[in-house]
Amino acid sequence: MYRSRLGNDLSGITLDYVSSIDDDSEIALYDIIGSQAHTLMLYQKNIITKNDAKKILLALKYLKKEKFDSSSGAEDIHELIESLVIKKAGMASGGKMHTARSRNDQVALDIRMKIRDDINIICNCLLDTIEALVSVAKNHQKTIMPLYTHLQQAQAGLFSHYLLAHADVLSRDFQRLYGTFERVNQSPLGAGPIGGTSLPIDRHSTAKMLGFDDLVENSIDATSTRDFVAEYVAMISILMTNLSRISEDFVLWSTSEFSFIELSDEFTSPSSVMPQKKNPDILELTRGKTAEVIGNLTAILTTIKGLATGYGRDLQQIKSSIWSTSKISISSLLILKSILLTLKVNEKQMKKVTESSNLIALDIAEKLVQEGIPFRVTHKITGVLVQTAYHSKKPISKLTSTEIKKSVVGTKVNPKIVSKIISSTTVVSSLKDRKSYGSSGYDEQKRMISDRIQKINNYRTDITNRENKINLSIENLEKQVNEIIR
Ligand code: ARG
Repeated sequence: MYRSRLGNDLSGITLDYVSSIDDDSEIALYDIIGSQAHTLMLYQKNIITKNDAKKILLALKYLKKEKFDSSSGAEDIHELIESLVIKKAGMASGGKMHTARSRNDQVALDIRMKIRDDINIICNCLLDTIEALVSVAKNHQKTIMPLYTHLQQAQAGLFSHYLLAHADVLSRDFQRLYGTFERVNQSPLGAGPIGGTSLPIDRHSTAKMLGFDDLVENSIDATSTRDFVAEYVAMISILMTNLSRISEDFVLWSTSEFSFIELSDEFTSPSSVMPQKKNPDILELTRGKTAEVIGNLTAILTTIKGLATGYGRDLQQIKSSIWSTSKISISSLLILKSILLTLKVNEKQMKKVTESSNLIALDIAEKLVQEGIPFRVTHKITGVLVQTAYHSKKPISKLTSTEIKKSVVGTKVNPKIVSKIISSTTVVSSLKDRKSYGSSGYDEQKRMISDRIQKINNYRTDITNRENKINLSIENLEKQVNEIIR
């Protein structure tokens, strides 16, 4: 349709090379809605007549229900929709739809509308997953587990504490995406190919009709920039790395060596040869798909970095990276939520491992600190206790008074105090005494859980308000369209 200045048509192979029609199925509806707003504005600004607007809007309404034929010969969805509008409305009216805009502002508009919807969907999925983490945490406030640093047992902790940590990680993903939305939800429509138009359009009016909070003011910026795409995919890359880390924990903990958790059958795969196997393939795929999303970010940044200012066709290629990023993150979140809600937790095993590993050493040292002994000295005493326990192959709690005496050699500490503290310190007592803000202590779990439930509710309200605002704008636009075409 556009090739009036050019001689020959594209060969089949070149058309296939140039065409983005397959990727464009994701933005077809946004393209139609954007065209509705643009047409209404052209009419309101007396650039086209009511009759022209009516014919164009009727054609667009019809196209909303249409399944597009990807073998139409069109280069992209913008060309296809315009040519179908012209076919239906006639050139006299349909030929006016593309007045005062370009595919450059159009495609930027469609991508922004797509990403803002995806952000809202992902934010909702995030809240569901966070809620699942908190609800499982609620049931495991007393489930003792070892906490690890360097993948070596570090301190005694609670499973709820672990889950709440990831609830907070995902809350930050939520906040990041929530912030990104503000920069995505700005309208580029009406920027034209790059420098604007001499026709008396109203960019603010189309922005409002389409539920945008603001405009990308500078028309060069509006048509050239894809930083909002890079930001979105970067935020999702961080989110995916967070999901990947949880996945790795769960893969490890579901091994027979750990046996801390058991994944529900529906989230595992059998082996083709070994009948006893129950493989955590689904979580492994979250790790694998995270790599794909990071690859998408790399592809996008690489595309943008060397591009001269102004639209370049290279930008067409980044669309599939966006769609794949959204799709992966949505399904990963949905799946993780279900994995959490169906997880079997082997409380006995977690407790056994915790109690058999002298994880209360630091708690003993801290109790000695409360007797006025410098921490560096108490650290040394407990170090000797752990070493003696290790060599005599028994837990600290089973050390004899002679063995305990060895630990205070070279200090002024009374070994009886050490004995007393050892006999009164267990994993449970240490978790009762752990009072610091945000710690594994029992009391902190209760406080953090109720605080997080409150936060999730507030986030839900924020997202619902955002969605309602967009939906209301699109409904109003639809009403205005219907008034003209009735
Ligand atoms: N199919 C193109 C894309 O997805 C649309 C914009 C084309 N603009 C142009 N001047 N060739 O990026």
